[in-house]
Amino acid sequence: MLPADAQAVSPKETRKRPLVVMQSVSKVFSSGTVALSNMSLTVESGEFVSLLGPSGCGKSTALRIIAGLGDVTSGTIDWPSSRINSRGLPEGDIGFVFQEPTLMPWKNVFDNVHLPLRLRRVPKAAAHDQIIEVLTTVGLQDFAKAYPRELSGGMKMRVSIARALVTKPKLLLMDEPFAALDEITRQKLNDDVLRLWKATGITVIFVTHSVFESAYLSNRIVVMKARPGRVHADVPLITSLERDAHYRTSEEYRKACETVSHSLIGAINSAGDH
Ligand SMILES: Nc1ncnc2c1ncn2[C@@H]1O[C@H](COP(=O)(O)OP(=O)(O)O)[C@@H](O)[C@H]1O
Ligand SMILES: [Mg+2]
Repeated sequence: MLPADAQAVSPKETRKRPLVVMQSVSKVFSSGTVALSNMSLTVESGEFVSLLGPSGCGKSTALRIIAGLGDVTSGTIDWPSSRINSRGLPEGDIGFVFQEPTLMPWKNVFDNVHLPLRLRRVPKAAAHDQIIEVLTTVGLQDFAKAYPRELSGGMKMRVSIARALVTKPKLLLMDEPFAALDEITRQKLNDDVLRLWKATGITVIFVTHSVFESAYLSNRIVVMKARPGRVHADVPLITSLERDAHYRTSEEYRKACETVSHSLIGAINSAGDH
């Protein structure tokens, strides 16, 4: 039998509805800083969207608002294809990866990844298989018993990604996750995230200030501008090429970087204009 509220939306219609719709969102901090002004953004299920913009243009604020980690001053956030829980967030959870891995140094990798499940009162034994599965996804299955101090920066970030994925969220929010890593590690993690995205069908909103990173990863780049933070341009990046080491040196990638770079320069030059 169908659940009571199933007749309202057929599965086919559900797929067509966007995952999240931000409408005319403004955020003014108590300091008076207008972090976002009239920002609208619609993200479809399965997209890989980057928010790209200079420091201070409100990228983190936008991401935190989508995650329900901060309220809006005006405007709305809607989840048209999801059931909403008591906190106004979509059921099925949202994974959040911060720039710093924010691991508990006194807990091993397994226990760090267990945290979101522990908060839902899932005991370790019951969570075991799920945790090992997600550690395998990020290539850390052999490091379950290691402590954060024994891991490289890239490995710590993998733990952080595993922790965000362990609840199997539909949406993964990543706030400049690789900004502190060296170039080689960053490229490797870029490939891992792309592989993960393809394998799971998860929706990703990825914050970065790197033109090259956004052009490599995303199928759409939302360029933001500052003072106040808002959308400057929405750039689709459709390519038939596999995004891999070969793509990094392709003419298509070079062109994508050029387009995005011009857009970012435009955003910086017109910041403050209304
Ligand atoms: N908690 C806060 N209180 C006051 N101002 C803030 C706070 N968080 C961010 N801001 C300000 O809001 C603006 C946007 O910040 P942020 O969203 O962090 O930008 P970005 O992530 O693009 O660098 C900046 O001017 C920043 O100083
Ligand atoms: Mg930020």
